[in-house]
Amino acid sequence: MKKIFQILLIVCGGLLMNSCYYDELQEKIIPELPVDPDDPDYVEIKFGADIQPIFTNSCIGCHNASRNPDLRTGFAYSALVPQYVTASNADASPLYIKLAGGHQNLATDKLTLIKTWINQGAKNN
Ligand code: HEC
Repeated sequence: MKKIFQILLIVCGGLLMNSCYYDELQEKIIPELPVDPDDPDYVEIKFGADIQPIFTNSCIGCHNASRNPDLRTGFAYSALVPQYVTASNADASPLYIKLAGGHQNLATDKLTLIKTWINQGAKNN
């Protein structure tokens, strides 16, 4: 009888560990930097200095005058806000949803910058 419990324990434990592993594969956790200006670690993420360079390096080969959103310098902000970006709500922003879903495999640190910029208010700063 004891043996049956032992076996059950091993099987259930194995299933549990497997499901955790599965979760990790399913959704990558994207860290976020502080969004509250009163936070001592707050650093403002800037559209011009931090976000536009990501688009210029990784997106404008496809997203230019011929494909929405146009992410070229001088066009990107008005193409994104408000159509693709809901200020202060990255999880509701089609831009972030698309990228977090794996579009073009953007690196996690870049996703963190975009998420934080949106949640800090998506300013044209
Ligand atoms: C190799 C070409 C290519 C590159 C590079 C690329 N995209 Fe895209 N993107 C597409 C295509 C094609 C679509 C439309 C099909 C789809 O939705 O996946 C698209 C769709 C999108 C959409 C949804 C548009 C809509 O109207 O629903 C967003 C937002 C987007 N891309 C953002 C980006 C960003 C930000 C980058 C840079 C990190 C990027 N893309 C890089 C080809 C590209």
